[in-house]
Parts: sequence; structure tokens; C-alpha cells
Amino acid sequence: MQDFDVIVIGAGAAGLFCAGIAGQRRLRVLVLDHSEKVAEKVRISGGGRANFTNRDIDVRQPHKHFLSENPNFCRSALSRYTPADFIELVQKHGIAFHEKHKGQLFCDRSAEDLIQMLLRECEAGGVQRWQPCAVKGVRVSGESTYEIDTDRGTVTSRTVVIATGGLSIPKIGATDFGYRIARQFGLRLVEPRPGLVPLTFDGDGWVPYANLAGLALPVQIETGGHVSPHAPPLRGSLPPEGTPSALGRPGGKRKNLVTFHEDLLFTHRGLSGPAILQISSYWRDDTPIRLNLAPDVNLTEALARAKVTSRKLLANELASVVPSRLADAWVQQDADWQRPVAEATDKALARLAERLSRWEITPTGCEGYKKAEVTLGGVDTRDLSSQTMESKQAGLYFIGEVVDVTGWLGGYNFQWAWSSAHACACAI
Ligand code: FDA
Repeated sequence: MQDFDVIVIGAGAAGLFCAGIAGQRRLRVLVLDHSEKVAEKVRISGGGRANFTNRDIDVRQPHKHFLSENPNFCRSALSRYTPADFIELVQKHGIAFHEKHKGQLFCDRSAEDLIQMLLRECEAGGVQRWQPCAVKGVRVSGESTYEIDTDRGTVTSRTVVIATGGLSIPKIGATDFGYRIARQFGLRLVEPRPGLVPLTFDGDGWVPYANLAGLALPVQIETGGHVSPHAPPLRGSLPPEGTPSALGRPGGKRKNLVTFHEDLLFTHRGLSGPAILQISSYWRDDTPIRLNLAPDVNLTEALARAKVTSRKLLANELASVVPSRLADAWVQQDADWQRPVAEATDKALARLAERLSRWEITPTGCEGYKKAEVTLGGVDTRDLSSQTMESKQAGLYFIGEVVDVTGWLGGYNFQWAWSSAHACACAI
């Protein structure tokens, strides 16, 4: 039976990063993964270029960008291994990168560069890696030794790191392994659910928009804030700073309002694009989302002005502030909008402005784990140390997405993988 100081289960972002650091601390490290390939999610991330961190992460106020039952849990790890630390490593490996949008950093060439970096770091630490290797069971034997049964035999170690990620994208190897191990050792779980996921709509209410697939436009989007005082609060983080909710009265009706300014994409089954992915992590079943489809224009004023000065059809006038396909589809919803703007009544124009700038619609569901970029929920942070990621079960650690810490779209989730892996690797 081979013995190691550390066995890491999961050769993804967090697992490989943790293994490399632990190996370089002269620990004997084995990484196990049931997939043939390493770090498949890194490979497909960021459109193949891996949005590997975000410069704007405010490590003192993690609740702004991370969702968790305890949004402050991630603060310690994030502040001890920051985006700047990871950027330094990327630079040390000579990987060229660029900032795309709102602090998001991407590889210039390919996510493969990042995977090679993780593998080189493992190599520098003499890390052994067994792939594909199915893990059949984990048990404690004696005082503090773990025995792990794999299809290549049983291995032992004083520490086990679970880095098996969440449930998103099962076709590239996601499983509930981490949650099962947590349950086996009596740790609590926050119910997992898909996050950063397209939302779906069906029924008659979606008919007017069904032909808009492929259309993209910048919007302001929000959810929450509409709830009655008796409705349960949104689980997860406090609302992002600067939103009306954060400025609102504590305990007020709009307390849980969450707002993003991003691009929206119409799809065949509903809505996607960064705006929807971001809001999906905060959206709860059977609640509406609200969109301003012309966020940079005061539509009421613009239409009132056009009524006096324009001879165009309302749809054509509207096409100066939203894409013409959207304008055409939109006016089909009301006979009063299918005429020249000069002939439309003030009431009809006001209704149009209100409808476009405050489009309220209730998703019927989401695309689920097959399309979700992340899994919300996971191992309950009450049963983990925020300093080391060790669980209440001594010697058993959880890092990365399997933990109930989920970031926004934009490199936040990889940074959590690096930071939690670093905290763990330095502690074992
Ligand atoms: P990760 O999922 O990376 O690794 C888990 C590993 O465990 C896998 O190798 C898997 O095979 C293995 N495993 C699972 N079950 C096992 C079992 N039973 N036995 C053995 N091994 C097992 N984030 C970001 O910050 N920027 C971005 O650009 C993107 N882009 C993006 C695109 C897409 C399409 C997706 C699906 C996701 C992203 N993400 C992202 C999210 C990011 O990929 C994710 O948060 C991290 O990969 C999580 O890292 P982990 O190491 O925790 O899990």
C-alpha cells in the first residue's frame, strides 16, 4: 500500500494548484482524478482563453462578488492569496494576458497555457498524478490515517483534500463526489443549485420574443427587491454595493434588490448573456426579473420629443435606441404602437417607455447543470475553517467550487479556486 502526506481528489483548477504548492513544500502528494484529461473546465473556460482572475476583487468586502450562506468566509483565503499573487505567477511563467472588461483577465493565446503552468508547478513539487483513476471509497483507519480505495489499489495518507468541484457540466466529469464525502463524515451541505446559467421561458408569454434568438444588447437587469416583508430573504450574499438595495433602508422592501449592467442575449429557449448569467445566481424560482432594455436613454423624454419632431413609424423611431429587430417585435405587442410616433397618444407612448425600461418577466426555469458555469451551495462553511479549509473531520479538507462559495461571472470563481487551494496547501 503506497503512503502519501496528501492525497488530492480532483485534478481541476483547485486540486492541481493545491498539489503543486504542497509538493513544493516537500510533501509527498498524489492527485487522483476519474477523468483522462486534467482541468477540463479550465480548458473550456472563458471561451478557451480562461478568465483566470479579476483585478477588481475587493478582498476586504467579498460579499460584493461572492455568494455564500456566510459571504465573509472567503475573506481570509482571498486576502492571503490575492489576484495580484496569481498574476505574478502567470507572469513568472511567461503567459501573456489581457484585461477584457471590468477587471477580467484572460490568456492572450489559450487556456492551455494555464493548464501547462499548473502541471509545471506540480512537476516542480514532484506530485504524482493518477488519471483516469476511479475513487471507490474513503475511510479513516487507526488514529488519523485515511485509506482510499481506487481502481489502482488502496493508498493511504494523513490528509485528504477534496477538490472535485460542483455539478456543472456532467459530460466533462462533474460528479457529486465531494458532497457524498461531506455527508459520509457528517458535514452539513447547503443545497446545490445551478448558477451562472441561462434562464428559460415557455408558454404564451414568451411568444412575442421567440423570434429574437441571437439578438444581443446592453441592459440593466435586476431581481429581488419586490418581495413582501413575509417572503424569505434571498440566500447568499448581500447585494452588490452601489445598487439601490445597498443604498436602501435596512429591512426596507427593496433590501434584496440585486442589479447588473451587462449584455443580454436572446436564445431559442429564453435569455442568456452575461446579464442573465449574473442575475441567475440570485434569481429564485417563481420570482420575476426586471430589465431596462434601453438603460442609457430616458425613453419617456425621448419619445415625447420624437412625437413633436419625427414623422417616422414608432418602430423606426425606437430603432434608434434599441436594435431594430427588437423594436419591430416590441411594437407588435400593442396596436397603439403600430403607427407613426406623431399619431401615438401620450398614454401609449408612456406605456411603451414603461414597458421597455421596466420589462418584468418571470422565468419558468433555467438550463440546469448541463449549461451552468457553476454550482451554488455545497459544503457548508460552518463545518470548515476559513483559515485552512480543514473540515470538522480532522485531516479532511475541501477547496474550490465544492465549498459553498460562488463568485460572479468574470474570473471570481477561479480566484476562489486558487485562494482556497493556497490556504489549504499552506496548512497541511
Ligand atoms: P473543477 O471542476 O475545475 O475540477 C474538479 C475535478 O474533479 C475535475 O477534474 C473532475 O474530473 C474531478 N472529479 C469530479 N468528480 C470526481 C470523482 N468522483 N472522482 C475523481 N475525480 C473527480 N470561472 C472563472 O473564474 N473564469 C472563467 O472564465 C470561467 N469559465 C467557465 C466556463 C464554463 C463553460 C464553465 C463550466 C465554468 C467556468 N468557470 C469559470 C468556473 C470554473 O471553471 C470553476 O469554478 C472551477 O473550475 C472550479 O475549480 P475546481 O477545481 O473546484 O473544480
